[in-house]
Amino acid sequence: MTDEILQYPFVHDHALDIDVRFQELQRRPPVLVQMPYGPPCWLATRYEDVRAIFSDDRFSRVIAPGAEAPGAMRGASLVDTSMPLGQDAPQHVRVRRVTAPVFSPRVIRTMTDQLQEIVDRLLDDMVEHGPGADFVEAFTWNLPLTALALLMGVPAEDAATFRGWVETSTSELALEGERLDAMVQTSQYIEHLIAARRARHYDDLLGMLVDACDSGERLTEAEVRGLMMSLVAGGFETMASQLGSSVYALMTHRNVWDELLDGRAELDATLNELWRWNPGFRYGATFCRWAKADVELGDGFVIQAGDAVMPEQPVANRDLAVFPHGWDLDVHRVAPRPHLALGFGSHLCMGIHLAKLQVELTVRTLLRRFPTLELAVRDEEIEWPEWMFMRQVGALPLTW
Ligand code: HEM
Repeated sequence: MTDEILQYPFVHDHALDIDVRFQELQRRPPVLVQMPYGPPCWLATRYEDVRAIFSDDRFSRVIAPGAEAPGAMRGASLVDTSMPLGQDAPQHVRVRRVTAPVFSPRVIRTMTDQLQEIVDRLLDDMVEHGPGADFVEAFTWNLPLTALALLMGVPAEDAATFRGWVETSTSELALEGERLDAMVQTSQYIEHLIAARRARHYDDLLGMLVDACDSGERLTEAEVRGLMMSLVAGGFETMASQLGSSVYALMTHRNVWDELLDGRAELDATLNELWRWNPGFRYGATFCRWAKADVELGDGFVIQAGDAVMPEQPVANRDLAVFPHGWDLDVHRVAPRPHLALGFGSHLCMGIHLAKLQVELTVRTLLRRFPTLELAVRDEEIEWPEWMFMRQVGALPLTW
């Protein structure tokens, strides 16, 4: 690594904007950056480069023991080899193969009625509060947390305690000690859930994972725990961000909302475009890779063995070379290339179908129940707290 090092991030993110200066970076191969944490790394912003990094097994997710991962947020290196996102093949291939059936679209679709009930109940609470209600407080954190509890088999009587741990363990505001303590509590609670499934058979996700652990040695106990912790780490703040940002985007692109209402826009295409366009992860908050060999990316640019590279997928998702007028939300794109918001290749988001289902049910239900929905405050008054891992709307007062 001999090139000039760019201090990163060099711009602040604001709301759902991506700074147009990235368009210049996207005309070039990866550049060398210094993140706030960890050693220098390459930053990839072009769609084809990011996709290649996600797809090529010569890029590893296994961090050298004791090393710190480059990243804009603290804790980027907390992922370890018990978690899918900290694994490489062949371990990762085995874990994904064993778990694939439970995360399949067919199985996740069986949660639809229960999730719809939760969506309706949370929106009933919003109605009770009346126009001006904050959608973030009423909905964006509650839905994913309840969905996680459902998926993980957390009984109703433990839901509130579970929620406290999850919130603290994922909060950038909590003190380091509090966060670690909450993680330990969550992990111990998961062990308790595992023990319950050893005592008697449960026909659920964790029951199936415990069977896979006990019968054919297909998963280790550490992998079961790591996977459950990954669901908490991966399926909460990400979801809250996407739910809040999607509704914000629809409220601030009134034409899209109106077209959805009168059928000029298709819901599936609109949701797909929202995934592409919403920059969920903050600059530098994505997951770095380490090259195991020299790997050539576009234009003959070589990432050398041992170098770290950060795939900046929210920026790649707007690459003008792949998505015409990619900085604009356009729900009428014809056969767009796949977006990278949920990753790509072997580490493609495990919760992809659950994530898509939650957003779909939310938008569908809002359209049906609140056709006149709009922001209750001016766009400029909406705050986007800077301390969170994802871009998150702080409060979203709505009226109807
Ligand atoms: C808006 C919602 C979500 C977003 C934006 C999101 C994004 C992502 C991305 C980008 C990756 C791949 C990271 C990489 O390869 O560097 C990923 C992986 C993962 N996600 Fe999600 N995710 C979301 C929801 C969920 C949900 C609901 C769950 C589970 C209930 C989940 C569980 C996971 C897990 C376990 C992985 C690791 C997969 C692996 O390494 O094989 N995610 N997610």
